[in-house]
Amino acid sequence: MSNHNPSRENFGSKIGALLAAAGSAVGLGNIWRFPILTGQNGGAAFILIYVGCVLLMGIPIMMSEFLIGRHTRANAAGAYRTLAPGTRWNWVGRLAVLSGFVILSYYSVVAGWTAEYTAMALGNCFDGKTTTDFPAMFANFVSNPWRNLFWTISFMLITHVIVVRGVKSGIEKFSKVMMPALFIILVVLAACAITLPGSSKGIEFLLKPDFSKITGSVVLSAMGQAFFSLSLGLGCLCTYASYFRDDTNIGKTALNVSLIDSFVAIMSGFIIFPAVFNAGYAISSNDIGPSLLFITMPNVLEQSFGNIPILAYGVSVLFYFLLVVAALTSTISLHEVVTAYVSEEFRMSRRKAATFVTIACSLVGIVCALSFGPLDGIKIFGMSIFDLFDYVSSNIFLPVGGMLVSIFTGWYLDKKLVHDELTNRGTLRAPYLRLVIFILRYFAPIAIATILLNQLGLFRFF
Ligand code: TRP
Repeated sequence: MSNHNPSRENFGSKIGALLAAAGSAVGLGNIWRFPILTGQNGGAAFILIYVGCVLLMGIPIMMSEFLIGRHTRANAAGAYRTLAPGTRWNWVGRLAVLSGFVILSYYSVVAGWTAEYTAMALGNCFDGKTTTDFPAMFANFVSNPWRNLFWTISFMLITHVIVVRGVKSGIEKFSKVMMPALFIILVVLAACAITLPGSSKGIEFLLKPDFSKITGSVVLSAMGQAFFSLSLGLGCLCTYASYFRDDTNIGKTALNVSLIDSFVAIMSGFIIFPAVFNAGYAISSNDIGPSLLFITMPNVLEQSFGNIPILAYGVSVLFYFLLVVAALTSTISLHEVVTAYVSEEFRMSRRKAATFVTIACSLVGIVCALSFGPLDGIKIFGMSIFDLFDYVSSNIFLPVGGMLVSIFTGWYLDKKLVHDELTNRGTLRAPYLRLVIFILRYFAPIAIATILLNQLGLFRFF
């Protein structure tokens, strides 16, 4: 039975809860990270492994995060403390909050870029520019510390304002307006992209697998991407589920969030690749990197639609606005993980806790933002500070977090508790229950450990 704490808010409706969780999942991971990794790792073959990871690990692990959150009705660290008092499992919750903090810090840098590019698109700054102008434009921007800081911090502040308003009138209300807007923009843009004359090569790239491209690191990237995109492994969805109502169907919600998330990722591929191939780009690692959305894409949009200036203008504004919306619903969820933790564990008001988180994350965000400019020379393991944060958090923290969550639910938690949460105390049918438990006990931990050890070079399985 769920613990009830009367001072805690809940989402007002099931659809609100679904859209908020989907808002967390759908983000730059789908529209920025997914196309980049797909481009770098061979297209359709990568997508197949990614979808496999979503089905066989992502959905069951999402169900466990949901059930832990809703059962305890506490922040990520409080949840483990309630379920496993006095054990080392408490560290899992605290580490989750720490990774949320790290991801939010570097994520808001890229989110800031999307806001800057929306402003540029609105100001019609891409009009008449040529292929050689865009790299210079981006280089100019990222190496300018003040502009970068301005946008990173602005983005953090917008996130702050929504989080402070609370679960129902902040997070839920915002997601209910913005998620439908995001779907509409996505469909309009995909329709524009696939009607471009040279789009068929892009579509082929997304649909025809070349299995010779698959290596250990491709598998690790696909798994890391599945965790990142579904917001798994750091208690984000666990925190949101702590606001779910008692009648929310956990299995169905996990399935729907994953479907929406994968749909948006694949649709983004159908927007970006047809347009990229139409503009005559080869899929080389230089065009398809972090700069994909900021150098390649504005150029692609300009080349593809430039002969009808008003269309080029509209498509660019919509594209960057889509990115801002997607990023914002995700930064909100990351912020909420840390805010809920600070406010509940240190008994602070929501406003105070959120302010503390905003300031702390902005400070770390500044370091990440500067790693493109003044701190460019600092390399750790050959990566810039920004790349290091991205690599370590999604390829190590998230899979390890996901593995621990599945071991916790599969082995430590009482079976009856898991059964009660997934069936809403026997009122729902959950025919998938045994399969989910099997995955959480054996398949997911073993698969994650194998892929991680293989990639870290400790063992070579494949
Ligand atoms: N899933 C989001 C995206 O695709 C990012 C994100 C939000 C996230 N919350 C998270 C990633 C929690 C990992 C864990 O952009």
